[in-house]
Amino acid sequence: MAFQKALFTAQSRDNAAGVLNAQGAGGGPFSLSNQNFYLGINDVLGADPTGAAFNPAAFSIFSKWGNLASSKKDSYTSPRQSVARGEDLFNHLPITITGVAGLNDIPGLSTVAGTCTSCHDSPNVGNHSVSLAINIGITDSPALPPLDTTGLPVYQLVCTSTGRVYQVTDPGRAMVTGKCADIGKTKGPILRGLAARTPYFHNGSAATLMDVVNFYDTRFQLNLTQQQKDDLVAFLNAL
Ligand code: HEC
Repeated sequence: MAFQKALFTAQSRDNAAGVLNAQGAGGGPFSLSNQNFYLGINDVLGADPTGAAFNPAAFSIFSKWGNLASSKKDSYTSPRQSVARGEDLFNHLPITITGVAGLNDIPGLSTVAGTCTSCHDSPNVGNHSVSLAINIGITDSPALPPLDTTGLPVYQLVCTSTGRVYQVTDPGRAMVTGKCADIGKTKGPILRGLAARTPYFHNGSAATLMDVVNFYDTRFQLNLTQQQKDDLVAFLNAL
């Protein structure tokens, strides 16, 4: 248990941005080992047990790279600036969150004005800090492009109380609870060490981090520019 609790996985070097704790940044496993965590930390719905308010700026690893002097440019400068812009987008890009079962069906939350960190709220780690399972559509069949679920089984689930028919590649949390309301629900995972573990989402439906970003762009109609997509991918690749 002590051994498991002391394992920290994080990218320590990036091909473009170099060493990830250079120039005041807090990338890599050592900074991660000093990161505070407890269940409910920074919860978006007010469940932080200390009573602390939600801070959308859940990631601060690369904020120093946002101020790198362009006058002293070396080959790392612009990749580092891109990582910093990606972190800022992850914290602050407005996302109108709708149609997410487990979140938007809580009374009063049919539309949530959020960001990536509304769900990925654990500071500098990015998992959801409470065990709230939600459905962002990863198990839908047919899958929303660019997700690729070819080769996965398709389950047809009929809810006898409502007559509603679901087609999913994974019943999700409903497998545990047997409840129709839990079909397709999963939990927001840790986002560290992503670069080394393609493919993404629990069913491997996103081949690359760009596919992940393009999924969110379509799912929540973000209208991201190519630069914003590249910056988000640079950030996710540096975690
Ligand atoms: C409404 C909640 C919500 C929002 C908003 C959200 N995510 Fe997620 N995210 C999730 C959930 C839930 C999963 C797990 C889905 C699955 O695998 O079934 C996930 C998974 C991921 C993964 C895959 C990790 C892995 O190990 O496979 C990445 C990367 C990711 N999100 C990045 C982002 C980015 C970037 C944004 C903003 C553009 C974002 N998320 C916004 C809920 C959210």
